[in-house]
Amino acid sequence: MRSSAQLSSKWTAGLCLLIAFLGLLNPAVAVKEHDFKKCDQSGFCKRNRAYADAAVAIGSSWKSPYTVAADSTHFKEGQFQATILKTINDQGETVRLPVTVSFLKNGAARVTVDEEKRQKKDIELRHDSKARKERYNEAEKWVIVGGTAFDTEAKLSHEGKGHWTIKYGPSSNFEAVISFAPFSLDFKRDGHSQIKFNDRGLLNMEHWRPKVDKPEPEKKEGEESKEGEAPEATPEAKPEEPKGEDESTWWDETFGGNTDSKPRGPESVALDISFVGYDHVYGIPSHAGPLSLKETRGGDGNYADPYRLYNLDVFEYILDSPMTLYGAIPFMQAHRKDSTVGVFWLNAAETWIDVTKAKGHTNPLALGIGAKTDTHTHWISESGLLDVFVFLGPTPQDITKTYGELTGTTAMPQEFSLGYHQCRWNYVSDEDVKDVDRKMDKFKIPYDVIWLDIEYTDEKKYFTWDPNMFKDPISMGKQLDERGRKLVTIIDPHIKNVDGYHVVSELKSKDLAVKNKEGNIFEGWCWPGSSHWIDAFNPTAISWWASLFKYDTFKGTMENTWIWNDMNEPSVFNGPETTMPKDNLHYGDWEHRDVHNLNGLTFHNATATALLSRKKGELRRPFVLTRSFFAGSQRIGAMWTGDNQASWGHLGAAVPMLLSQGISGFPFSGADVGGFFGNPDKDLQARWYQAGAFYPFFRGHAHIDARRREPYLAGEPHTSIITAALRLRYSLLPAWYTAFYQAHKEGAPIIRPMFYTHPSEEGGFDVDDQLFVGGTGILVKPVVEQGKEETDIFIPDDEVYYDYFTYEVLPTHKGKRVAVSAPLDKIPVLMQGGHIFPRRDTPRRSSALMRWDDYTLVVALSKDGKSAEGELYADDGDSFDFEKGQYIHRRFILAGGHTLSSVDAEGRDVGAIKEGPWLKEMGRVKVDRVIVVGAPKEWRDKKEVTVEGEGGDKWTAEMDYVPASGGRAAYVVVRKVGAVIGRDFRVVF
Ligand code: NOJ
Repeated sequence: MRSSAQLSSKWTAGLCLLIAFLGLLNPAVAVKEHDFKKCDQSGFCKRNRAYADAAVAIGSSWKSPYTVAADSTHFKEGQFQATILKTINDQGETVRLPVTVSFLKNGAARVTVDEEKRQKKDIELRHDSKARKERYNEAEKWVIVGGTAFDTEAKLSHEGKGHWTIKYGPSSNFEAVISFAPFSLDFKRDGHSQIKFNDRGLLNMEHWRPKVDKPEPEKKEGEESKEGEAPEATPEAKPEEPKGEDESTWWDETFGGNTDSKPRGPESVALDISFVGYDHVYGIPSHAGPLSLKETRGGDGNYADPYRLYNLDVFEYILDSPMTLYGAIPFMQAHRKDSTVGVFWLNAAETWIDVTKAKGHTNPLALGIGAKTDTHTHWISESGLLDVFVFLGPTPQDITKTYGELTGTTAMPQEFSLGYHQCRWNYVSDEDVKDVDRKMDKFKIPYDVIWLDIEYTDEKKYFTWDPNMFKDPISMGKQLDERGRKLVTIIDPHIKNVDGYHVVSELKSKDLAVKNKEGNIFEGWCWPGSSHWIDAFNPTAISWWASLFKYDTFKGTMENTWIWNDMNEPSVFNGPETTMPKDNLHYGDWEHRDVHNLNGLTFHNATATALLSRKKGELRRPFVLTRSFFAGSQRIGAMWTGDNQASWGHLGAAVPMLLSQGISGFPFSGADVGGFFGNPDKDLQARWYQAGAFYPFFRGHAHIDARRREPYLAGEPHTSIITAALRLRYSLLPAWYTAFYQAHKEGAPIIRPMFYTHPSEEGGFDVDDQLFVGGTGILVKPVVEQGKEETDIFIPDDEVYYDYFTYEVLPTHKGKRVAVSAPLDKIPVLMQGGHIFPRRDTPRRSSALMRWDDYTLVVALSKDGKSAEGELYADDGDSFDFEKGQYIHRRFILAGGHTLSSVDAEGRDVGAIKEGPWLKEMGRVKVDRVIVVGAPKEWRDKKEVTVEGEGGDKWTAEMDYVPASGGRAAYVVVRKVGAVIGRDFRVVF
């Protein structure tokens, strides 16, 4: 399993020894796929797939049994309301499902379907369960933070007998056609269908029903059903259900020796969502597969299983798989040339999504030129409401912006967190930490943060320190602080169940833990052995958790200590699929089943909230890394992709995964650099640092059994190669921070895939191994193959592309690949013409030490040699003063081929802003150099430029012109520009 050494030395309980023993018997490192469910081992997934198969088999005569009740329809102030009747038997008996379709001011539409009987709590639970009777209706409370105002301008434009049409959206160019029999929805833009609900008739809300005990069908010998596998239902066992219904997993379900008691019976919700004329769909992270999602119903190169969203501890996950990982964002975008649309499925229960594509659509009018494929998706959740947001674009930016309004955007980070993080499981003592810190300095390797994994604690009791190995954490913190560096300590949600540990005794006495199905405190196994889990859904638990982080309670921590939350899926070593039983109970008596995918978010939220109140009067942006997440987690902190492996395959898998995170609203993401399990060879390690320098979250991490691999241990030339990658990252920190600001403001991804930046360039729609850094025009393609000395980069437009390091002009053609040489010491990085980006070029040991450094502006001139544009955002990187205008936000424009000007990007009167200490100090920070790549020949003989500052001041600065040579572009370097970075200026060439 995780670590045989770890297990044999640390785990004492019999269960753990057994697991360790099994682990030793099978030293294979890959995740054990059979430990995790496939769709046909998950009752509700299997049932809904069977339902879909039955519908397909019946063909055009299949009729969805969901119709809108006559006279139940209303439309008022942006909201359509009605009751859907689901016919449940041949006698015409129906169940009532209230539906609302809300049209929102921001152009999104929201479709919500509930079940009246459960809503009214008019049902009976089995096994004397204390669980809530309603369908879970609080996901919104955790996820949605804005953007829900109704579009009161939305108009009922057609009120027919069989369907109503509602016009809505920014210029009333969106339409929802609501059909009544069967119930279906057709979302159109400019008169053309984009997204259809229940078009294939797969809507399915498993209504409440009492369990009718029937005589067990006689089993022939040898017919015992296998665990986790539904036995074939006999016709006699299901008289009142439509054909194909399989009751075997309605009332309980067993997998891996764990039985789920399912007190509410079957309650899944499923819907088919078709993207009309779209052949690419993206999103629904986290999966280790390509950015453009694959089909999931088998066939050549396709997956056989749906994409699964059920946050689990799937250490050493397999690649190119729809298997679930640690976090879930049920947000999908569909894209075709010049059009993007999307859906957000707000449901926190276990969810599966089938993707299929239907070729050969022949209605060019409805589909747009060239569109020939529809992508069909089938969303299946175990419980909860049907609650779906629809986005009609038309640009990828529209989609991520509206999604960001609803679920929130990336929190402005602590600036240090964009630097490099040095982690391993584990730095063994405070002396070890100090030693690594000194060595990084000795080798002049920049880094900002060193991390402590679980071994720093006293026997896995969080909020304590190992008394022998970490005798003096404060002196460790102080040494780090000398260079402005930080410490991150891990705090997990499982609390060791042992006498004399104040955290567990408070957790129990205050009744703040997750409960089991009987309503008693839940006990399970994790790193500390027997443990209980904080229930971070409970507001009282959140306040209590905050009390534990106060500097005088969590002794040994100080202002530069930040937190890492791990295992918050939650990971329960002896639980079903290594997590909690679904019939466990959370605050409000909601079953774990309903809230599972939100669990990580709530714990992450509790920790980040705690960091806001460590000391009276101290209000700083928290930094908390999480492993598990859901839609909305972007507001709280950063994530990483969990336990990868030191292999070239895993290096290659990371970029598509991080691109997917970015377009799905949670861009502050990284993968363990170097690979968590195993020992990377030095080339792999170097290549991984080169790639990691372009991850939004950049952390080296290693398993407890892995050899030490701090960058200075690699030896030459690898240490120098790694150091160069780190320095490149540090010099570009101003550009990264600006990209984070755009993520914060607009919900934009920080690293951007080609379809996002170039939505018209079809050749780029499935390119997912290269990225643009924010809006900088910096295009990067990490090398992810052993021994590769050349790579090719897909070029999405007609602009000129310069090599980042040599200024060579590449022989590029729109829509084609260009070969780029990439020996081990070179990262393939290009600059797209037409951009300006900020840098800080003095190499230093941490980002804090660069705080007041002057800037370099790099101008990559456009193809016509005349223009370029870019941005810089800067603030104190720590407080919330930016919310009060204490920031610099410049727009740089080079126009007419001769004048570079800097203006406030938001048109503010900067002089009128009352300057706090940070802004005041920034008054001394200047533009040091301006480099113009692709400089026109006319500048050849110039030796200086004129700089105009605010208030009409003028001076000159020296300029060197370097003529084009070979394939290299001409460029100029202007030195000691001297303009104040935060103020208006012009440089006239
Ligand atoms: C699992 C995490 O994914 C890994 O990063 C960490 O080192 C171990 N838990 C130990 O805490």
